[in-house]
Order: sequence, then structure tokens, then C-alpha cells
Amino acid sequence: MRPNSSIDHQPYQICREGKVKMVTNALPPNGGSGTFSYSKNSYFQKLSSSVEERKIEEEIQKKLDVQKLACGSNKIIRVADLGCATGPNTFTNAKKVLEAIKHKYQNQCPNTETTLEFHVLFNDLPSNDFNTLFTSLPHDRNYFTSGVPGSFYNRLFPQSSIHFAYSTYALHFLSKSPEVVQEMNSPAWNKGRIHYTSASKEVVDAYAAQFAKDAAKFLDARALELVPGGMLVIVMPGVPNGMSYSDIVNGLLFDSMGSILMDLSKEGLFDESQVDSFNFPFYAPSPEEMTKVIEMNGEFNIERMELTNPAPWLKSMNQVIPEWIIHVRAVMEAIFTRQFGNEVTHEMFQRLTKELSEKSELVETKHRDKIQILVVLKRKE
Ligand SMILES: C[S@@+](CC[C@H](N)C(=O)[O-])C[C@H]1O[C@@H](n2cnc3c(N)ncnc32)[C@H](O)[C@@H]1O
Repeated sequence: MRPNSSIDHQPYQICREGKVKMVTNALPPNGGSGTFSYSKNSYFQKLSSSVEERKIEEEIQKKLDVQKLACGSNKIIRVADLGCATGPNTFTNAKKVLEAIKHKYQNQCPNTETTLEFHVLFNDLPSNDFNTLFTSLPHDRNYFTSGVPGSFYNRLFPQSSIHFAYSTYALHFLSKSPEVVQEMNSPAWNKGRIHYTSASKEVVDAYAAQFAKDAAKFLDARALELVPGGMLVIVMPGVPNGMSYSDIVNGLLFDSMGSILMDLSKEGLFDESQVDSFNFPFYAPSPEEMTKVIEMNGEFNIERMELTNPAPWLKSMNQVIPEWIIHVRAVMEAIFTRQFGNEVTHEMFQRLTKELSEKSELVETKHRDKIQILVVLKRKE
């Protein structure tokens, strides 16, 4: 069970004008190893990230000067996973990254007798289930570990201490949903919806602005923490430049969740205003937006940025709708539960599976190519 922190789980905030606002800070996925846990339901993220493995290895081989990094650090290489959750994907990612770095070192220094030592720093929000993470650490690992609780939108590590940082399927979680979409008198008020999918331009713009602000903070922190020449790799949901989120399969998911919640409120389970004040803090950027925020930061060179199909193996979504929804539940349940309670959240996920299974033809028509973005950056020297 996740500990109940009064700060992390506090959904409302009284602002200066005395208005009550919903604050939707992200919450970690389901802990433990039960039916809806992330540890049991994260293989889609694993498969999606694995599409990028070869490209990341290639970038390490071509661009990471491991010999130089090792020389400046007494042969200790520090690797950070930002938004690691409970495992097991974080362990697979660490293994692959370390293998690629070792391989590069062997290529650069074929006659060396010294071996590298690795320190892997697992970061996530303080309320993440770090117990499950630590108790499932692979026994045969060849690296030292530490857990680093905190938001990756802030500083996490000492200055110039990290050689390689990566983040898979985490940076689409905004630090909070934009405030204007919750304000009744704002043109960006997102009434009756829980996301920017199919919403007005004002709502989409407000989410985009929140992403730009958060990503800027993320990069500012990483620019200080990475050593010159260090590498930062991001894998996350993305969109082709100019594509509307309602064209994408995840957009259909958010629209369906929103309309099911509206139905449940009409059935008297809760007040409709609870939907109006809830906006899921999820944003998928385009390469154009990513480039802009990286260039604004100015401390990184863009080594590679591309969109990919995260599931080239998947012939038809119909085969996987119930599994897909359980994966979504493992990641998002805590955030819905905080706003709507256990019963409503459970009912929403039940209806979601049924509704999307019935709409499987529509699910099939939604865009799925190029909805994962890979970004490889190098800290300027
Ligand atoms: C979908 S999980 C991905 C976990 C893992 N990287 C993977 O690929 O399976 C996203 C993780 O990001 C974490 N996260 C979200 N916002 C965060 C933040 N601001 N700081 C640190 N971690 C965050 C969540 O708690 C969650 O564990």
C-alpha cells in the first residue's frame, strides 16, 4: 500500500482570491504486485521502449565518450532513471544502457585492465512504492543502486555528477494540470472534459504552455546535474507536428473516460462539477515543441529526435483492448481515485473496457504510427 501523505493526496487548494481549485499533481502508478499493479501491468511500456533500444545503443556507440567520462570520475559511471516506478522495466533499461556503455568502453580501451563501476540512481516521486522496487532488484546485477525520491522537475542530484540519464514513459506527466482550464470564468475552462483531447484551442494551448514550462524546468535541472558530454535520453508519447490528439488512439481513451464520468455524475454518483475541476496532467508533445524547449534551454545538443510507432508488432488493437485498459488503470488509477473515490474509479474502468471493446472498429481507425518520441541529447562541453 502507498503511504497516505496529506500533501501528495490533497486535491484542493484555496488560492489567493479564495477560490477552491483542483490541483492534480501526478501520482505514481499502483504499487505492490496485485492484479492492477504496475509491476504486473507494464509490459506494453516495456515493448514500446524496446523499439528504441537499438537506436539508443547506436547513439552511445557513436556519441558518448565513455573513456573521457570514466577518466574524470575515477572509473565510476553514474546513471539515473527518471520516473522509474516499481520495476521491472527500469531494470531492463538499466541493463541495456550499462551493456552499451561497457561495450563502448571496451571499444575505446581494448587493452585496459580496469573495469568500470556503475552506480544506478532510481528516481521517482516520494510516494512511489520504492519497497517493491528495492525488493525486486535483480540479484545478478552488476551495479550499485540508490533510490532518489523527488520530482524530476526539480534538482535531484549534485552538480555535474551524472553521466547518463534516461526517462521512459514518464515525462508526459505534467507537474500539474494547467490552472486556467479549471477556472470557470476563463475562456480555457474545460467544462465536462478531463483532458485537452477534443477540447477548445484555449485548452490545448494551456496544456501546451504547461508542458513547455515543465520541460524547461526538467532541462534546467538536468543541465546542472549532467557532466559536460553526458547524455540524456527521453522516450515518451508524442505526436506528429500539427496532429490533433483526437486523431490518436490515446485521445479516444481520454474522451471515453470523460464521457463515462459525465454519465456517472448524471446517474447521481457525484456532482458534475467534479469532472469540470478534474484535468488529467498528461501531455504528448510534437518534435517541434520539443525542439523549441531544448533550444530555449541552450545547454544541450540534439543528437537524435524522431517519432516511431511504439507497437509495430501489434496487428490489431482489438486483440488487446482489455489488457490495454488494465495497463492504463495500473498507471492512472491513483489520480482518478483521489478525485472520484474507489467505487467510481472502478466503475469507470469497467465501463471503459466495455465501451472501447464495443467501439473496436473506431479504435482501429485511430492513428498509431509515430506516437512515441525519442530524444537523445548531449550536455554541451
Ligand atoms: C508509466 S510510469 C513509467 C515507469 C518506467 N520508466 C517504465 O518505463 O516502465 C511513469 C512514472 O513516472 C513517475 N513520475 C511522474 N511524474 C514524475 C515526476 N515529476 N518526478 C518523478 N517521477 C515522476 C510516476 O510516478 C511513474 O512511476
